[in-house]
Amino acid sequence: MGERFILQTNGAVDHALRERGTLEGWQEHVGRYAAGNSRLVLALSTALAAPLLYPTGEESGGFHFRGPSSTGKSTALVVAGSVWGGGGIRGYVRTWRATSNGLEGVAAMHCDCLLCLDEMGQVDGRDAGQIAYMLANGVGKARAGRSGEARPAAEWRLLFLSSGELSLADKIAEDGRGRKVAAGQQVRIVDIPADAGAGLGLFENLHGFPSADAFARHLKMASSEHYGHPSRAFLRTLVDAFDDIAPVVKGYVDEFLAENCPADADGQVSRVAARFALVAAGGEMATAAAVLPWEAGEATRAAARCFRDWLAVRGGVEPAEESEAIAAVRRFIELHGNSRFEAMGDLAAHDGYGDALAQRVVNRAGFRRRARAGEIEYLVLPEAWRTEVCAGLDAAAVAGVLARRGYLVTGGDGKPQVKTRLPNFASPVRCYIISANILGDAEPAAPERDFG
Ligand SMILES: Nc1ncnc2c1ncn2[C@@H]1O[C@H](COP(=O)(O)OP(=O)(O)OP(=O)(O)O)[C@@H](O)[C@H]1O
Ligand SMILES: [Mg+2]
Repeated sequence: MGERFILQTNGAVDHALRERGTLEGWQEHVGRYAAGNSRLVLALSTALAAPLLYPTGEESGGFHFRGPSSTGKSTALVVAGSVWGGGGIRGYVRTWRATSNGLEGVAAMHCDCLLCLDEMGQVDGRDAGQIAYMLANGVGKARAGRSGEARPAAEWRLLFLSSGELSLADKIAEDGRGRKVAAGQQVRIVDIPADAGAGLGLFENLHGFPSADAFARHLKMASSEHYGHPSRAFLRTLVDAFDDIAPVVKGYVDEFLAENCPADADGQVSRVAARFALVAAGGEMATAAAVLPWEAGEATRAAARCFRDWLAVRGGVEPAEESEAIAAVRRFIELHGNSRFEAMGDLAAHDGYGDALAQRVVNRAGFRRRARAGEIEYLVLPEAWRTEVCAGLDAAAVAGVLARRGYLVTGGDGKPQVKTRLPNFASPVRCYIISANILGDAEPAAPERDFG
């Protein structure tokens, strides 16, 4: 060491990597209070894990705290941001809106650091999706420079924290045009319910403060008096033993995965687990380096808890595309099961002589009947299946998922479509037969959450 490096840039860099107060002050008034609060510990661990991306070669990504107003989401971002900096007019935390125009510059400026993006609600769903995608991809758009020459695209590597009332998926779907979050986006931006379930919003342990409100206000205030020091202290320990970083992180990550990632987890789930593992490693290493004033194991417990909460909302360990396929079919039947499926057999209304009464089904999607086992079946006509039930999805893949799960009645030949006699059709018609069990087995859908 001893060499000085000077960064030369074309313009003034508007960064917030400032310091105030002391490391001890930060530990005493900010860091200490995170203990026992899984979301705060995760946020701080994320802040300290950011510089681990480079030596470990891990990909960029982040966490999004989702939940109702005044639960402590922005507070968590401010607390995490205080690891790196603060001060100025707006502190360390950026907003989604302020970032949507200059994302590439902002992201590049936070390379190997933490980026905090508050208030996803301020941008529209389409922008949120694009920002999220680009952020996690680590590379901006290539552009032509002023004289037409190709300017290299900005690149970055970072971890980020975000907050909003909606999940990224709901945000993207918000404009009602059927846009969906890609599974690839979901593994990069991990959606965590802000509510920790202890009746205290994002918090679980108030450390003697009279209310969650007072606790949140203290954290915000203290984070504006002490900031910037923890990252410096941690970086000093990292550069002193740079070659050891990758193997040490790997040790923590392997242990975390062995204990927390279900053996049968799909690739997407294990990728997200690996992100939590990296963050846990950052927290544990910063604890071992006496930067975070916690007991060993705190960061790992918090990451494990948040991973479980993520998994619970996701609805299991199968790939997101599968839950999505099932959810799409279930939604269609829930919405239109009665109105757009013509009743057959004993489900149809009959007159006093046992003859079926004529039904008026507008815009018919198919038929419904009672199966031999007694439960209801929905028979979907191929065109409606493709263009409506599976709109925006791969219709053949959806049929495959349903068949594997036992929600689709397949023919003797194993084909997903079954030739069936239907009222008013001269000859048997191929259709998809969906068991009404898909409505009852709620397992693949997100559990209802009451944020009160
Ligand atoms: N868990 C909580 N319980 C009760 N009050 C809280 C809680 N967290 C924060 N508050 C109060 O709400 C104020 C705003 O906190 P914060 O900015 O963290 O909320 P938020 O979740 O980001 O809300 P919003 O979605 O409106 O941005 C705090 O100053 C505090 O007074
Ligand atoms: Mg907020």
